[in-house]
Amino acid sequence: MKNDLLELMKERRSIRKYTDQTLREADLQKIIEAGLYAPNAGGGQRSMFVVMNDRDLVERVGRINAGCMRRDHLAGSYVSAEQPSLIDDPTIKSGFYGAPVVIAIFAQKNFLYNIPDAFCCAENMVLEAYHLGIASCIVARGEETFATAEGKRYLEAWKVPETMECKCFVLLGYADGAYPGVKKRREGRVLVVTE
Ligand SMILES: Cc1cc2nc3c(=O)[nH]c(=O)nc-3n(C[C@H](O)[C@H](O)[C@H](O)COP(=O)(O)O)c2cc1C
Repeated sequence: MKNDLLELMKERRSIRKYTDQTLREADLQKIIEAGLYAPNAGGGQRSMFVVMNDRDLVERVGRINAGCMRRDHLAGSYVSAEQPSLIDDPTIKSGFYGAPVVIAIFAQKNFLYNIPDAFCCAENMVLEAYHLGIASCIVARGEETFATAEGKRYLEAWKVPETMECKCFVLLGYADGAYPGVKKRREGRVLVVTE
């Protein structure tokens, strides 16, 4: 377990290769709790989570997610050689990269701060996951995934209220292979001002 918070933030990386090992229930509950305690606009606690805790289900929804990737405006994009993303490797079939557990984060439709609300939850979750020794990755295309006919069927089956919209996913599992090192930061991103 990692204890220094700043070191933990620096060392956490997005993992896109997972082993078959799934999460212990107690760890999953802590990660969910971390998301529930995220800062939220106006104190409204409007986000909700759908926890996909089944490898086959994750694979099916992950394939829908990958199918929503628009490649036409990605020219020159590059994410990671160590942990290739859908952008780097078009042969990857699932946007969830074989993770055993994926949490879909939903936020209230038509609420000004629905995106930041959802991503605050996601950030809390990935940090708690890393604290517990669990690998993770935040993945986009939430709206697109559930705008497909197949995606809509899942929302109906799961009884997700129509007022909610998926903003992102948090993949969880154990890294298959070496965990990548700390990534260098770009210079010149901070201005300190006094007047
Ligand atoms: C808003 C947001 C959307 C992201 N979407 C994806 C995604 O769809 N697929 C993916 O593989 N990684 C996604 N990521 C992970 C980023 O690619 C990753 O955080 C970035 O490359 C930096 O690497 P690191 O997390 O290892 O430091 C996303 C991250 C954020 C914050």
